[in-house]
Amino acid sequence: MKFNLAFLVTLVFLEGYDCKIVQFIFGDSLSDVGNNDFLAKSLAKASLPWYGIDMDNGLPNGRFSNGRTVADIIGDKMGLPRPPAFMDQSLSEDVILNSGVNYASGGGGILNDTGSYFIQRLSFYKQIELFQGTQDLIRERVGTTQANQFFQEAVYVVALGSNDFINNYLMPVYSDSWTYNDKTFVQYLMDTLRDQLTLLHGLGARKLMVFGLGPMGCIPLQRVLSTSGGCQDRTNNLALSFNQEATKLVTNLSTNLPNASFNFGDAYDVVNNVVSNPSKYGFTNVNSPCCSFGKIKLALTCIPASTLCKDRSQYMFWDEYHPSDAANALIANELIKKLGFLNRTDAAPPPAIPPSSSR
Ligand SMILES: *[C@@H]1O[C@H](CO)[C@@H](O)[C@H](O)[C@H]1NC(C)=O
Ligand SMILES: *[C@@H]1O[C@H](CO)[C@@H](O)[C@H](O)[C@H]1NC(C)=O
Ligand SMILES: *[C@@H]1O[C@H](CO)[C@@H](O)[C@H](O)[C@H]1NC(C)=O
Ligand SMILES: *[C@@H]1O[C@H](CO)[C@@H](O)[C@H](O)[C@H]1NC(C)=O
Repeated sequence: MKFNLAFLVTLVFLEGYDCKIVQFIFGDSLSDVGNNDFLAKSLAKASLPWYGIDMDNGLPNGRFSNGRTVADIIGDKMGLPRPPAFMDQSLSEDVILNSGVNYASGGGGILNDTGSYFIQRLSFYKQIELFQGTQDLIRERVGTTQANQFFQEAVYVVALGSNDFINNYLMPVYSDSWTYNDKTFVQYLMDTLRDQLTLLHGLGARKLMVFGLGPMGCIPLQRVLSTSGGCQDRTNNLALSFNQEATKLVTNLSTNLPNASFNFGDAYDVVNNVVSNPSKYGFTNVNSPCCSFGKIKLALTCIPASTLCKDRSQYMFWDEYHPSDAANALIANELIKKLGFLNRTDAAPPPAIPPSSSR
């Protein structure tokens, strides 16, 4: 009897390595949780005050915001652990098996060249390469069968694209700006994204969410380009066209790739509504950064000498480029509605969406 029980326990232990459902996150500064802090030469870092002021101990943690990222908030609501940055020295096989990995890097894009003037950043292709390295480690640790199951059950987040416009196509220093027009550039991004998502599927990704772009012509960095300080319509139209084409692409891949459940969601409309009607959503400022350094607006100027706005929950933008925690909460809630993923993940607790503090 005893022997049988021991035998049974051993069998269960060997066969049923209890893999958790974790996330693998690919993205740019909107999802970076500290990778760029470890890239010695990167010019895009959130390593100084006042970044992170509304999170944990209030010290900079690599997030380009005062608080949480959109992916943090969505993952929390799915009941999934927050994956640590790939570059974090404490990353081990156990950590990966329990929490997943976040490869997102400020300045990174769908295209390899995007953000090159930040000197160092991880492009989407580079992030996928790093993920393949992660897979090798996990296969060695738990064996191929368990590893395959682990990677197929995981949730994948892909959130890139704005740098391909802001820090590539729309900048005359990049050859893409004269090689393509608005339509062909978006098509080029789609062709590349198709290859990248197909590659991830080949590596085991089954449940995957792609986050679309917001009205990026309304970020403070774009507004200063016009004398009126208004949003850049051309930039916004590029975001709309990216979202439209990416919706089709993701639907197509989800239909055609075996067992794929790929979803696309964007929060363009809701952010646009906030921009045109801030008070309805509890915001008082939707055009300038909460953390800013006098009148200098042409770069990221949230630095220790900057001054902060009075009420950070009422500002849409934290710095010249990135939304505040309050805006990220709004964006995340919208994406949750669009993605409808709460139905599909067994790990998800009942959707406990706390009342937004800004309402
Ligand atoms: C982009 O970089 C990856 C490696 O990170 C490389 O395999 C690929 O060929 C590059 N693509 C282009 C178009 O340069
Ligand atoms: C999906 O994309 C492929 C390749 O571009 C195309 O041939 C096919 O018609 C598309 N299918 C749908 C349903 O859109
Ligand atoms: C799709 O799912 C079925 C059922 O779980 C499985 O037998 C099959 O191997 C899967 N195919 C791929 C390509 O993942
Ligand atoms: C999720 O559930 C909601 C409400 O039950 C439904 O409207 C939506 O279509 C579902 N989404 C998916 C992807 O199944």
